[in-house]
Amino acid sequence: MSRYAAAHASPQGAGDSRPTALQIVKDEGMEGKLKGKVIVITGTSSGIGIETARALSTTGATLYLTARNVIKAKAALADILEPSLTEFIELDLESFDSVRTAARTILAKTDKVNILINNAGIMAVPDLQFTKDGHELQFGTNHLSHFLLFQLLKPALLAASTAEFHSRVVNVSSSAHRLNGINESDNYDFQKGGYNAWVSYGQSKTANIYMASEIERRYGSRGLHATSLHPGGIATGLSKYIPEAEIVAMLENETLIKTLKSPEQGAATTVWAAIGKEWENKGGKYLANCAETNSGNDDGNISGTDYVSHTYNAESEARLWEDSLKIVGLTDDQ
Ligand SMILES: NC(=O)c1ccc[n+]([C@@H]2O[C@H](COP(=O)([O-])OP(=O)(O)OC[C@H]3O[C@@H](n4cnc5c(N)ncnc54)[C@H](OP(=O)(O)O)[C@@H]3O)[C@@H](O)[C@H]2O)c1
Repeated sequence: MSRYAAAHASPQGAGDSRPTALQIVKDEGMEGKLKGKVIVITGTSSGIGIETARALSTTGATLYLTARNVIKAKAALADILEPSLTEFIELDLESFDSVRTAARTILAKTDKVNILINNAGIMAVPDLQFTKDGHELQFGTNHLSHFLLFQLLKPALLAASTAEFHSRVVNVSSSAHRLNGINESDNYDFQKGGYNAWVSYGQSKTANIYMASEIERRYGSRGLHATSLHPGGIATGLSKYIPEAEIVAMLENETLIKTLKSPEQGAATTVWAAIGKEWENKGGKYLANCAETNSGNDDGNISGTDYVSHTYNAESEARLWEDSLKIVGLTDDQ
C-alpha cells in the first residue's frame, strides 16, 4: 500500500492534500543528497516539467534542462534554480538532428547521467502532421525522439550506475494510453489512413510505457532501470489543441475538477519514480498517484488510473524497440 493512498482516495481538486513534487523530495529525505549526480529533463519550459525541475533542484543534483525554446524555459525557472547547477540545452523533439545535437552537447559536458526524465509531450494534434524527419507528429515527438535521446545517453546512464545509486529513466506517459496500443509496424505514421488525434496520442503514450518496460528488461541487470507513469490531470499548455467548447464543458464538470492536480502535484509521481527509494533497484512498472497501478478493465476510460490489458505486452514492447531502432537509424543496441 502506497503511503500516499489515503491522500488520493477522495480528491478535492488542485492544491488539496495530495503530495507535491517538493513534498516527495522531503519525504524521501533527498534534500541536498544528490550533489554530484546528473539529471536530464525534457520539456522544462511549461507545465509539470517546470515543477519537476524545481523540486529536483532541491536535491543538489546538476540539472540538464532541455527545451525547444530555451529562453522560455530560462524565464520560467530563472528565479528558482542555482545557476552553477543548471545547464539549459536546446532540444526540439520534432527533429532527430536536434536530438543528436542536444545529446552531443550534454555528453561534451558530462560522461555520466544518473537520471533521464522524458517529460516533454504534445497531445491531440487535430490533423495529420509530420516531424522534420517525416514521422507522425505525436509519435515522433512523444516517442521516437525520446527513444533516440535515450539511446544516445545510454552509455552515460550505464557509466553512472553504481551499486549505491542505480541509474533511472522515467517516461511520462498518460492514462490516455488506455485508449489503444500501438499500430502495426508499417502504420505508426498512419500511412494507411484513419488518423485520429486521440488514437495517435494513445499510441505515443503506450509507446512511452513500452519503451520503459523494455529498458528494464534489457538493462535492469546492468543497473539501469526504467518506469513510466500517468502524472494525473493537470491544467497546462498540453490542452492547447482541445477545442474551446470542450474545455468549457470540462470546467463545468465538478467531478472532473475535483480530480485535477496542480502542476506541483502533477510532478509528484515523476519525482517519486526518479528519486524514490521504492524504485532504487527495479523498474518495468507503470505508476500513477505515487504508487504502482492496479489491474483495471479495458473500458476505454481515458482518465482511469489502473493499467489495462495492453499496458504490459512483451511482444509489442520488443517489436516497438526493434522498429524504433531502425527508424532512428541505429543498429548497435548494446
Ligand atoms: N497535463 C496533463 O493533464 C497530463 C496528463 C497525462 C500526461 N501528461 C504528460 O505530461 C507531460 C508534460 O505535459 P504538461 O502537461 O506539462 O504539458 P505542457 O505544459 O504543454 O508542457 C509540455 C512540454 O513539452 C514541450 N514540448 C512540446 N513539443 C516539443 C518539441 N517538439 N520539442 C521539445 N519540447 C517540446 C513543451 O515545450 P513548449 O513550452 O515549447 O511548448 C513543454 O515544455 C507530457 O508528456 C504529457 O503527455 C500530462
